[in-house]
Amino acid sequence: MTVHFIGAGPGAPDLITVRGRDLVARCPVCLYAGSLVPAEIVALAPQHAHIVDTAPLTLDLIIAEIEAAHARGQDVARLHSGDLSIWSALGEQTRRLRALGIPYTVTPGVPSFAAAAAVLGRELTLPEVAQSVVLTRTSGRASAMPPRETLEAFSETGATLAVHLSIHALPRVVAETKPHYGEDCPVAIVFRATWPDERVVTGTLGDIEARLAAEPMERTALILIGRTLGAEDFRDSALYDADYRRRYRGFEG
Ligand SMILES: C[S@@+](CC[C@H](N)C(=O)[O-])C[C@H]1O[C@@H](n2cnc3c(N)ncnc32)[C@H](O)[C@@H]1O
Repeated sequence: MTVHFIGAGPGAPDLITVRGRDLVARCPVCLYAGSLVPAEIVALAPQHAHIVDTAPLTLDLIIAEIEAAHARGQDVARLHSGDLSIWSALGEQTRRLRALGIPYTVTPGVPSFAAAAAVLGRELTLPEVAQSVVLTRTSGRASAMPPRETLEAFSETGATLAVHLSIHALPRVVAETKPHYGEDCPVAIVFRATWPDERVVTGTLGDIEARLAAEPMERTALILIGRTLGAEDFRDSALYDADYRRRYRGFEG
């Protein structure tokens, strides 16, 4: 018996990996993390599968479901939205499974920051503009930020910021980043990327709050900030440069 943690992707049901889809289709137990996991993916579970929405459950109750499946010798598909490496509660679940001696695997998914960039049709790293992407959030009721992980500190680098779980705190996000990126720095807010009701609001750090006020959004939104979002005058990358290719023929690193 194995618990298969699976990233369900950002919303569109065809953005789960083939491996993830096949695992859901063959596991007799399916635990999924609430409304951010699309119903079409949960529906891939076999007929008569034991299917549980874990959104209203405590960690103890989720682990009890897994232990019960373990006792029955039944594999579990455990679905979370996006990818499992960020804000998925994977860490606390796998720690319990290691203590219980229950084996598990992890199948990655398309994270929401990648889906949001795809919706915008933009690359988040561009030569000499930004070569880093910071996946971060602001503190919430349940989770404080470690003291050195501030938006000011990240902003000082000029990296592209992908600010999660923070649409309610947009005024604070703008106030803390504007001094570093400038009024005219592009911002894109992508709400429910790849869902049927996906929406995008773009602007600058100077006007994004006013633009959003005209179109208020709900919780599931990603705030992208950085010069890469509007840049057109960046130089080409070395990878496809003719001279570079002559010198390093065959090298695609
Ligand atoms: C609990 S975190 C889950 C992150 C997820 N594990 C991932 O890989 O993106 C939820 C936050 O991710 C972002 N998010 C998740 N799905 C999204 C989507 N389809 N569109 C925009 N933002 C999304 C939002 O910032 C939301 O508040």
